[in-house]
Amino acid sequence: AAYKVGYFVGSLSSTSINRLLSKALLKVAPPDLEFTEIGIKDLPLYSPDHDSDYPPEGRALKDAIAGVQALLFVTPEYNRSVPGALKNAIDWASRPWGENSFDHVPVGIIGASIGSIGTAVAQQSLRAVMAFCNARLMTAPEAYIHLRTDAISDSGEINDEELGAVLTAYMAEFREHVERVLTVLPRG
Ligand code: FNR
Repeated sequence: AAYKVGYFVGSLSSTSINRLLSKALLKVAPPDLEFTEIGIKDLPLYSPDHDSDYPPEGRALKDAIAGVQALLFVTPEYNRSVPGALKNAIDWASRPWGENSFDHVPVGIIGASIGSIGTAVAQQSLRAVMAFCNARLMTAPEAYIHLRTDAISDSGEINDEELGAVLTAYMAEFREHVERVLTVLPRG
């Protein structure tokens, strides 16, 4: 059986290197993973005032997460954490109270930056958030991608052997993690 994976790209930039990274990851992923992007750009800012009656954008986000078996975060680092747009989406999905969409969901975290630290600090920050949201985090391997702009083409072809090997191994391990979690905690 195939596993349905929803993925978030944490950047709203039209020239996002993390979007490129997401395209490359989809290309090297095991064939039994089926990917759907879960968009974050149309969400209003979260407020508890919405909890009694979620707007369509908030509902759509929660439905999208409910419709997949695992989640992959592909995110930049902004000021040593994740971009506010991504955190906003996470806050929406974690609520209303008692309806946390991340509960027991297998999750992978990866990201690229133009700096050598490769989103390491943002990923640690996101791990803390996802741990609190009771997601089942893949703890290893970690992948901190320092991305040269020519390493991945616009269509997601990887032009760097070492990067290709890292991303392929990451997605293979992610698939194993998803399978392991879903064996104990089946979803959909
Ligand atoms: C950055 N960038 C950045 N890089 C990093 O390694 N650590 C950081 O803390 C930050 N902080 C940061 C804040 C803000 C507001 C911006 C706009 C950028 C640089 C960042 O890695 C670079 O812009 C990437 O290209 C962002 O990823 P996307 O949007 O191209 O996917």
